[in-house]
Amino acid sequence: MPLLELFSGLGAAGIAWGGPVAAAVDQSPHANAVYAANHGFAPKAWNLAGVRSSQLAGLAAQRWWMSPPCQPFTVRGARRDLDDPRVRPLLRVLELIAELRPAVLAMENVPGFVASATRGHVRESLMASGYTLSERLLCPTALGIPMRRHRYYLVARQGGNGLHTTDFDPAPACTPSRPLTSYLDAAPDPALYLPEATVRAYGYSANILDGADPLAVGTCFTSAYGRSPVRAGSYLRDLGGVRTFSPEEILRLLGFPASFAFSPEVPLRARYDLAGNSLSVDAVRTVLREAGVLDAA
Ligand SMILES: C[S@@+](CC[C@H](N)C(=O)[O-])C[C@H]1O[C@@H](n2cnc3c(N)ncnc32)[C@H](O)[C@@H]1O
Repeated sequence: MPLLELFSGLGAAGIAWGGPVAAAVDQSPHANAVYAANHGFAPKAWNLAGVRSSQLAGLAAQRWWMSPPCQPFTVRGARRDLDDPRVRPLLRVLELIAELRPAVLAMENVPGFVASATRGHVRESLMASGYTLSERLLCPTALGIPMRRHRYYLVARQGGNGLHTTDFDPAPACTPSRPLTSYLDAAPDPALYLPEATVRAYGYSANILDGADPLAVGTCFTSAYGRSPVRAGSYLRDLGGVRTFSPEEILRLLGFPASFAFSPEVPLRARYDLAGNSLSVDAVRTVLREAGVLDAA
């Protein structure tokens, strides 16, 4: 059964799904260019805040994925929750879910979503539309991947036994099944290295990993990575100095296939934005598999 990938970005959910994708929808031109170059078809460049019922119904998919913007719920943001206009596309899609009732839907967001009024609204709306919900938090570190990205996941099925489950355990300590070095570029771009003055100014507050440490685990890379030296993702110390991770290294840690590539016209800043906004393919696959949704792909 094909998947409808909403807020598709780079298409991580479709990669995790592994089966056919009916259509993707995203309003970002950069995301859509990279998506089209890698997935062989272009997403619909629709603003989901104003999407019409006939538009989504016309895509004829019974399985929907959505990874709506997380800024209304992030610890670093103002946490305006339902008052943030960036929640509107999610609320509009929820209205259409209540009307069109796809058999399965799944979504991802930041852990701050758990305590939000928006989550309460999502749960009430889905339960009123006859869905059984399973919610959890999962971090790729729990899968042996040396990068933190603790995220909220929801899988909802039409019908079911009505027994809603939640699993919000904290992420366990990580023992990498592959060292961080195995995700790194063979010949890092010299432009990735930070000036000594920056390292001196931020060295105490930035998270700098030892490239030779087999147990090194990176912090979560966000779309602010590279803009702010603190709290947006780890840096790496190697024989050449201290450097940023490349966008391609972040994609590898997120579980994208080696063949996935940014389109040449997409600037470096946009590559960090797209990678920092994306999903852990391995975590999404685990969530879908454990919810029994992948079996039907
Ligand atoms: C958290 S990212 C999702 C990343 C994606 N799942 C991936 O695999 O890379 C949110 C995405 O929603 C898109 N978006 C935000 N508001 C939107 C709207 N109103 N309509 C359509 N897309 C929107 C953004 O362009 C961004 O790509």
